[in-house]
Order: sequence, then C-alpha cells, then structure tokens
Amino acid sequence: MAGVAGSEATTISAAELTERLAPILAEYAGKDGAVISLLQDVQEEFGFLEPSAMTDVADALDLPVSHLYGVASFYSQFYFEPRGKNVVKVCTGTACHIRGAPAIQARLEEQLGIGPGETTADLKFTLETVNCVGCCALAPVVSINDRVLNRREQRKLKGWIQTERAEEPTSQEGAS
Ligand code: FES
Repeated sequence: MAGVAGSEATTISAAELTERLAPILAEYAGKDGAVISLLQDVQEEFGFLEPSAMTDVADALDLPVSHLYGVASFYSQFYFEPRGKNVVKVCTGTACHIRGAPAIQARLEEQLGIGPGETTADLKFTLETVNCVGCCALAPVVSINDRVLNRREQRKLKGWIQTERAEEPTSQEGAS
C-alpha cells in the first residue's frame, strides 16, 4: 500500500494548523465553486491534503468532509499521504521498459528502501512509476521533481541520494 514507509506519522499542532490555514480560508471566504482551487492551495501549503486541514476546511465551508474527499479523489493531482521533498519517477512505458526500466526501478527501490507510491519516513523521497513522459528518445527515463535525467545523469543518482539523505532536514520536512 502506498504511504510513508515506516508509518512515521506527521504531526501538526492545532495552533500551527490554524495559523497556516487561516490565510487560505480567508482568501476563499464567500467564493462559491472554488473548492478545487482551495484544495490546491491547501495541498501546496501542507504538501498533501492533511486530514486535520480537510476537517477544518469542511467546517469552514459548512460541508461534510466526505464531500471534499469525494471531490479531491476525482483528480489525480491531489495526494492524501505526505510526499517526499524529492519525487523520483521511473518511466515504465514501453520504450523505457525495453531499455532497462525494471532494473533501474529495482535499484532505486533498494537504494531508497521504498516501493513505488511510497515515501521515506524522513520525507525526503517519494518513488513513483509513470507511463511514458514523452521523452522516449532518452529512454530509459528517470526524473527528479519533474526534471528528466539522461543516462549520464542517472549514473549520479546513488551519490545524490546519499547526499540528500545526509542533509539536515529542512523546515519543510517533517513540518507537514
Ligand atoms: S516510454 Fe519512457 S519516455 Fe516514453
């Protein structure tokens, strides 16, 4: 199942939640039909649709929270689990598959210690698979935060992962 490896739950205090949510709720106060935009802003603020934030948004809109989840689950752009600071994507489309994507995926799973759809407990990495990102000439394709890496750049992935892992957490990590 997708999620945060190690089940390390993120926590956020009620006070912090209120403080971070207030400007968003204020911006959308009285604006009907702006649920998608509001949820996008919530996700941008917390990195995903944080459950307590969803409850507060539902209260503010006087809607059942199930309605918000129903809307959000319709769109692939919304995430219900924390995501890593770095989103590593392995293309598993046909061209990439033929040119070695399964081995690359296996190597990344081993190096990151997570499977596709999962996020490391330190919230530094999320691993995903995608179907053809439209750069088949570069196959096999890996991207980091939507920057496509060519084969030469992919050779530096292991070192990059080690460097990122060793870095001190930023304020973003673990905050959401
Ligand atoms: S199949 Fe991977 S980029 Fe097209």
